[in-house]
Amino acid sequence: MRGMADLPLAMLAELTHRCPLACPYCSNPLELSAKEAELSTEDWVRIFGQAADLGVLQLHLSGGEPASRRDLLDLVIAAREAGLYTNLITSGIGLTPKRLEALDEAGLDHIQLSVQGVTARMADHIGGYKGGFDRKMHVADHIARIGFPLTLNAVMHRQNLEDLPATLEMAVRLGARRIEVACVQFQGWALRNRSALQPTRDQVDQAKEVIRDAISTYRGQLVIDFVPPDYYSDFPKACMGGWGSTGLNVTPDGTVLPCHAAETIPGLVFENAKDKPLAEVWHDSPSFNAFRGTDWMPELCRTCDRRDVDFGGCRCQAMAILGDATATDPVCRKSPGRPLLDGLLAEETLPEVAPDLVYRRI
Ligand code: SF4
Ligand code: FES
Repeated sequence: MRGMADLPLAMLAELTHRCPLACPYCSNPLELSAKEAELSTEDWVRIFGQAADLGVLQLHLSGGEPASRRDLLDLVIAAREAGLYTNLITSGIGLTPKRLEALDEAGLDHIQLSVQGVTARMADHIGGYKGGFDRKMHVADHIARIGFPLTLNAVMHRQNLEDLPATLEMAVRLGARRIEVACVQFQGWALRNRSALQPTRDQVDQAKEVIRDAISTYRGQLVIDFVPPDYYSDFPKACMGGWGSTGLNVTPDGTVLPCHAAETIPGLVFENAKDKPLAEVWHDSPSFNAFRGTDWMPELCRTCDRRDVDFGGCRCQAMAILGDATATDPVCRKSPGRPLLDGLLAEETLPEVAPDLVYRRI
């Protein structure tokens, strides 16, 4: 297999699963890594070097909350020394002005700040963290003062899609250059809250109109990336740009994954970056090779003219909904699993279905 795979452009380093927030839409797995199991600074530094040698250009530092790692600054210094473009994906909690200034000096290239709502009431309700909104707004002020390029990350769902215009206004007010408004993706913990967070079709249609208008209103001022909920789409998303083709994830304990939710697929065995060089994992690991290319595809996808567009969709979604990771993503309108997905959508978006949120407490 060596030499047949493309090289990864991006690596997601999940530095820790620890997080002060408790968002019900958390996509991290049900079983989290304990602090004691986390990779050491030296481990990460070695992995960053291996990633750069393998061809990775962009490093996304995420979590949990990456600022929960005391060595965040050292990690950013090491990543920059390895020549990687560094992006910090954070809730902002734990980033003091002093820490932000040090990160700036270390060469941190970009920050993605998550927002849980446009008011303290909504944001603290969704994040399950009282006072979180005010702290985040202070952090945003310091980010703007220092002049970091900023992207706002807003997860939209049934309880906040009406706030979409106000969310876009907030991005401009905070000096963000880009906003990623992604409708909740149902993976990991978020699956538990699917019926509380699933938007309705009306909400999604309205959101698309808001986005259409906003793209022209904010042209030149704010780049808007909107990720509609794929349950309402006719075709699935090209998850990870195709399995094992453009990116990889390293979890807090060093497990190397082809995608965020790969561990939900039974039968796949994953290597650990503590034991094996990243290049070896990327090229030779049976888990990375499991869904590369088109050989694994069901007939429906293999003979379809979109097979090189969406690669048969998301393996983890096929697993979660149909219990079969080798099936066509049930979002695809040609999939025999689509009626099941439509049934779920109809059931979960009935007006009388309003379950309480189940928070992700660590
Ligand atoms: Fe994509 Fe497979 Fe559906 Fe074709 S049949 S659109 S490749 S998911
Ligand atoms: Fe695993 Fe989509 S999240 S393939």
